[in-house]
Amino acid sequence: MQHFTISSIAILLLVQLIPETLAQLADAPAPPGPPNITAILEKAGQFGTFIRLLKSTHVGDQINNQLNSSLNGITVFAPSDNAFSSLPPGTINSLTDQQQVALIQFHELPYLVPLAQFQTISNPVRTQAGDVNNGRYPLNVTTMGKQVNITTGIINTTISDTVHSDYQLAIYEVDKVLLPIEIFGPPAPAAAPAPVKSKQKGTSIAESPSSVADASAAVKLIWSTTGGILFAAAAISLWLSN
Ligand SMILES: *[C@@H]1O[C@H](CO)[C@@H](O)[C@H](O)[C@H]1NC(C)=O
Ligand SMILES: *[C@@H]1O[C@H](CO)[C@@H](O)[C@H](O)[C@H]1NC(C)=O
Ligand SMILES: *[C@@H]1O[C@H](CO)[C@@H](O)[C@H](O)[C@H]1NC(C)=O
Ligand SMILES: *[C@@H]1O[C@H](CO)[C@@H](O)[C@H](O)[C@H]1NC(C)=O
Ligand SMILES: *[C@@H]1O[C@H](CO)[C@@H](O)[C@H](O)[C@H]1NC(C)=O
Repeated sequence: MQHFTISSIAILLLVQLIPETLAQLADAPAPPGPPNITAILEKAGQFGTFIRLLKSTHVGDQINNQLNSSLNGITVFAPSDNAFSSLPPGTINSLTDQQQVALIQFHELPYLVPLAQFQTISNPVRTQAGDVNNGRYPLNVTTMGKQVNITTGIINTTISDTVHSDYQLAIYEVDKVLLPIEIFGPPAPAAAPAPVKSKQKGTSIAESPSSVADASAAVKLIWSTTGGILFAAAAISLWLSN
């Protein structure tokens, strides 16, 4: 009887608590939703150019979609307006659309890195621009205490502020635009990425130099042999041209 009473009370409590908990669970994520990177940066101020580029390249939409659909989170290095204005005039506008997308994706890590975790991250850090293995988008981090230095091989900078940090999005202010080697460095050495492209496209082009070489070898052979063969070769080529 006592058992019955206790379990009845327990069930009564559960019945009352469950809907409340469910209601809280349902309520909790809905109003905040996934964080909106442009809204956060607008509120922070000082990021007008970066916001404009997030919009024009649609990387901002990609980030918002990733935040809504992936559990990995996102880390963003946001260059301040001062960072952009200290670039030589026209630097950004002279880039192709594709390069602008890559540049902005270079400022995004497709996973969350809380500030303290930079101490143990391995270099080169993988960015949304990808291509770590070919070494054309290296982003290296070194830390000392709370100081986090970033180098791209073109620029060195330091995280100067944490703009935003939650369980899925971290935004760090940087005082320089992170310029990747792929876009701002010396041209890639012909050895690395070039053969992949030229193998397919260049087949017919590659054949002509070698047939030229064959022809000149044949001419040399002809000149080094007797006039009889030379005459024969001339006759054959006359016959071929008819
Ligand atoms: C994010 O915020 C910006 C600016 O506040 C707004 O224009 C945009 O519609 C928002 N995007 C989403 C997905 O809510
Ligand atoms: C997030 O994704 C869900 C579906 O997975 C969609 O219904 C919702 O509108 C999305 N929210 C935003 C802010 O994009
Ligand atoms: C970070 O950079 C500053 C100067 O830019 C330098 O003094 C400092 O030693 C660097 N720290 C690390 C950990 O690389
Ligand atoms: C980044 O770090 C990797 C691994 O330590 C190193 O091989 C590479 O040269 C570094 N690149 C730059 C630009 O510092
Ligand atoms: C960046 O820092 C490294 C040493 O940490 C230095 O060798 C290099 O010259 C610096 N590059 C620029 C562009 O300041």
